[in-house]
Amino acid sequence: MVYERGDVVGIDAAIIMNPEVWKASGHLEGFTDPLVECKTCHQRFRADQEDKLKEHKEEHDKKGEEASWTEPKTFNLLTEVFLGVTEPKQKAYLRGEITQGVFVNFQNITSSSRIKIPFGIAQIGKAFRNEITPGNFTFRSREFEQMELEYFVRPDDKEAEKVFNYWKEERMKWYVAFGLKKENLRFREHETKERAHYARFAEDIEYNAPFGWKELEGIHHRGDWDLSRHKITYKDSESGKEYTPWVIEASGGVDRALLFFLINAYAEDGDRIVLKLHTKLAPYKAAVFPLLANKPELVKLARKIYDDLRKEFFIDWDDRGNIGKRYYAQDEIGTPFCVTVDFESLENNDVTVRDRDTTKQERILVTKLRDYLHHAILD
Ligand code: GAP
Repeated sequence: MVYERGDVVGIDAAIIMNPEVWKASGHLEGFTDPLVECKTCHQRFRADQEDKLKEHKEEHDKKGEEASWTEPKTFNLLTEVFLGVTEPKQKAYLRGEITQGVFVNFQNITSSSRIKIPFGIAQIGKAFRNEITPGNFTFRSREFEQMELEYFVRPDDKEAEKVFNYWKEERMKWYVAFGLKKENLRFREHETKERAHYARFAEDIEYNAPFGWKELEGIHHRGDWDLSRHKITYKDSESGKEYTPWVIEASGGVDRALLFFLINAYAEDGDRIVLKLHTKLAPYKAAVFPLLANKPELVKLARKIYDDLRKEFFIDWDDRGNIGKRYYAQDEIGTPFCVTVDFESLENNDVTVRDRDTTKQERILVTKLRDYLHHAILD
């Protein structure tokens, strides 16, 4: 999204932000969920999550209790923090979306780089929301990681539509390229009433999770909402024209992506549990073992291979138990290759490389191992 493109730059903006930013962006007013409270047990829920409300009512019904709800109230999701050395301390906010850091730094970026519209600013980092109902493991949490692209275009309907469609397809391809099954992905257009306050148009990329089709990433046409509210303009260096660019945004959740990559990769193959993660996503790219831990000559060569490979790849080491158990342990954490140093290695300077998915083994010269892994992991 950044390094392989000439039209996108990356930034890392602040997490704690001035209330003025959130006032201008409309979040103090519009970043809300409807909240209802159970009059019986005072548990709070999002009024728009009908399945959760039904489930809760049924729990009370089972106990022979009445359950009814308060009128929905708007509940702001921004997280307040109080800072400073004088009392009362000053109120600030943890960023509710990482996006605003891009807009308030827009002029720093355009004045310090050669980038010209159309161009994008991408960022990855923590966001915080006082969610009413966090849950489904890391799917909805109060502290989570976002990965976003804000792509700036001329204020023109046709251009914005073209760029919106381009990014929506690119982002879908990105998830498929990292292994999510196509049949478990779909686009879903937002109805007018569910759109965020800044969005003119929005579509989600959804994943077919065990708990239903769920949002993985949102593609938003934010128009000039943010830049105009922050009173930021752009001057075209060729024509000299000054205008407020429009923004097409791709906003994904890192935690959600990880959760779905894990669910997608989980497989049972006979008595093996295998995490069939894409090689680029696997935490360890390979594990190195000496066949026997009590044979110093095997350990010495294995250790050397491990130390050499570690300079380039994330590599695990294991010399416990028998070889079969080590293979199974690596399968469960998704390590694509296991490299074993055995007695033949001492004579031929080669190793066995076992493939996680096929369990097939081949002998590779130690001198070719680095290239072999490079090719198998990165191509
Ligand atoms: N800047 C636009 C924006 O923040 P969003 O649809 O509110 O849009 C974007 O959030 C993505 O962030 C979502 O598609 C989701 O993947 C992730 N996300 C949002 N709230 C989350 C939460 N409470 N826990 C985990 N991920 C969350």
